[in-house]
Amino acid sequence: MTRRIPDAPAFATLLDRRLSRRDVLRAGVAVAPAAMAGSALFAPAHANASKPAQLGFKPIAGSKADAIVLPPGYTHDVLIRWGDSLSSSVPDLDTSKLEAGVLLGAKAAEYQRGQFGENCDAIHFFPLNGRSDHGVLCVNNEYTDDGTMFPGHPGFRGVGNGASRAFVKEHPQVAHVSKAAQGVSIVEIKRERGRWRFVKDSRFNRRITADTPIDIGGPARGASLMKTKDDPAGERVFGTFANCAGGETPWGTYLTAEENIQDYFANLEQLKARKDVDPFIIESHRRFRMWKAQSLYNWDIADARFNLPVAPTEPFRFGWIVEIDPLDPKSTPIKRTALGRFAHEGASPIIARDGRIAVYMGDDDKFEYVYKFISTARFDAKDRAANRNLLDRGTLHVARFDASGKGQWLPLVFDPKGPLNAAAGFRDQADVLIKARMAAYLLGATPMDRPEDVEANPTTGRIYIACTRNENRTAEPGTVTYGGREIDSAPNAANPRASNAFGHIIEITEAGDDHTSLEFSWEVFLMGGDPAGGRLITDMKQVKTDSAYYAGYGNAAELSPIGSPDNVGFDRAGNLWIVTDGAQPDGSNDGCWVTPTVGPNRGRLQQFMSGPTGCEVCGCQFSPDDETLFISIQHPGAGGSPAEPRSHWPDGGKSQPRASVIAIRKEGGGVVGS
Ligand code: FEO
Ligand code: CA
Ligand code: CA
Repeated sequence: MTRRIPDAPAFATLLDRRLSRRDVLRAGVAVAPAAMAGSALFAPAHANASKPAQLGFKPIAGSKADAIVLPPGYTHDVLIRWGDSLSSSVPDLDTSKLEAGVLLGAKAAEYQRGQFGENCDAIHFFPLNGRSDHGVLCVNNEYTDDGTMFPGHPGFRGVGNGASRAFVKEHPQVAHVSKAAQGVSIVEIKRERGRWRFVKDSRFNRRITADTPIDIGGPARGASLMKTKDDPAGERVFGTFANCAGGETPWGTYLTAEENIQDYFANLEQLKARKDVDPFIIESHRRFRMWKAQSLYNWDIADARFNLPVAPTEPFRFGWIVEIDPLDPKSTPIKRTALGRFAHEGASPIIARDGRIAVYMGDDDKFEYVYKFISTARFDAKDRAANRNLLDRGTLHVARFDASGKGQWLPLVFDPKGPLNAAAGFRDQADVLIKARMAAYLLGATPMDRPEDVEANPTTGRIYIACTRNENRTAEPGTVTYGGREIDSAPNAANPRASNAFGHIIEITEAGDDHTSLEFSWEVFLMGGDPAGGRLITDMKQVKTDSAYYAGYGNAAELSPIGSPDNVGFDRAGNLWIVTDGAQPDGSNDGCWVTPTVGPNRGRLQQFMSGPTGCEVCGCQFSPDDETLFISIQHPGAGGSPAEPRSHWPDGGKSQPRASVIAIRKEGGGVVGS
């Protein structure tokens, strides 16, 4: 989110076909442990699916309407909305009573723990019995915009002047509702008579919140920095929050990414004043851009875990990738610390040729980095349980993009000889992972323009990195202090535009097309902006602040403007789908775009969908047959209030806005985008 303040051939043969997590899931892996070990896994991935289709829809123009806008011949179902109850034992949230303070009621938090969470983000579809019309959906619930939920709550506008804090002090139940509304929602869904619906009372339905017990796995389990008064062993955490994008593993588990965790911890200034606290703890919090005094959500008022002077190490227990088994509602989620700790946007695993797993990840903050984890052990397609802890052992790397168009993956490994050693503040590998941002900086990683989703194209294996934007990228060389360290804020080869208002997308080709390679080549694939008015360039050497670049595609009249690329997804044909979060060149709403990545239409970007007023568009996940596109509509009507809602989507009339998951289909059936 953008804070509005001041995703039966032999095994070797399959791997040669660049078997991706997506292919495996399409083959029906995510069915049940019994099927995992059976021949279904080895069925050709596309055996039961229709042929990938070429793009053939009529693109839409940017829209400012408080509505879902789609090309002619397309329709959508609102699949599930914030507050919809997952079971009959809990009532639905009645949003017509928000203004009367229904969420301040005694049972509001308890009910919210049984209802679909707020501000949906990542979506991943786990087919049941290999089907495209029946599965389990995992959805992140990233944050709460409290000003739209509680009457009289000044929301983010009241953070700076203390008014929000005063409101939560008076109504501490706000914090409990907010904690219950964040995390992950898991829900069974079905398409019947052409329409998608969620299955109330399904055994798969589950909420994971900021209070759910979660195990710690990997090198940081039991590390001293992970220990708290409540958890002296450093092995179990309560909850996950700030869950942004995510991913799915080839063994059919869900990965949820903890992103803006710095917004939840209060009173860093008071912690700084303490003489008995390891200065490195304070330095780490500063590097993570913790707020100096209060937090964005004021959870510390109701839960001392979020008060830094009381719980100085609690933040180290967040900022991780969390693995969840959607098919086992009783399983305990696990924080995979081998994947590093930073503002995780998402995590995209792919099976490399030798069977090891590579996981691509972005750290979404200005001047932060792009990472790749490579597992030590290999994926075992015949034994789901053997893959269960694959993400606990391996090496995390960070990307350095060189001006030559080449790049390197630099290993974040503790080494007594340096640079990641005691002299630099790292006692062991756990320290390196907990303070991954600091380690990456010391290795000379390339500071990026807010790297968000990083995903592999299932047809070519190339990696795409969405860099949302970075208005702090200066025109001239110079050093600025950002995120607790001094950094050159000038454009670099991979972030070539000063005042990068509309973001860009980078394409990586791993050396030898091998996902375990530590060398790669790269190029700018797309530079957001308005292709009209002579701004379209076909050669990146000509780039200026207001230039737009679409992989060299030169016909401006056939291109849609785009800004702030955030999440990306792929259909089976390998077309790149992009959803946005933030400023559009023409001031229109966020939406969904698509472009081929190969062939004569490479870079021909066209807008497919526009979202309602004030929303961010997230998710971007296809059903295995490509006939449904699942999208999250996050924070419609952002910045409004129950008294003055700024959107009435999806229910219309005078209703309150509700973040919801939608399922987009072609009328009469067919591949989305065809
Ligand atoms: Fe939560 Fe980086 O978007
Ligand atoms: Ca975002
Ligand atoms: Ca995002």
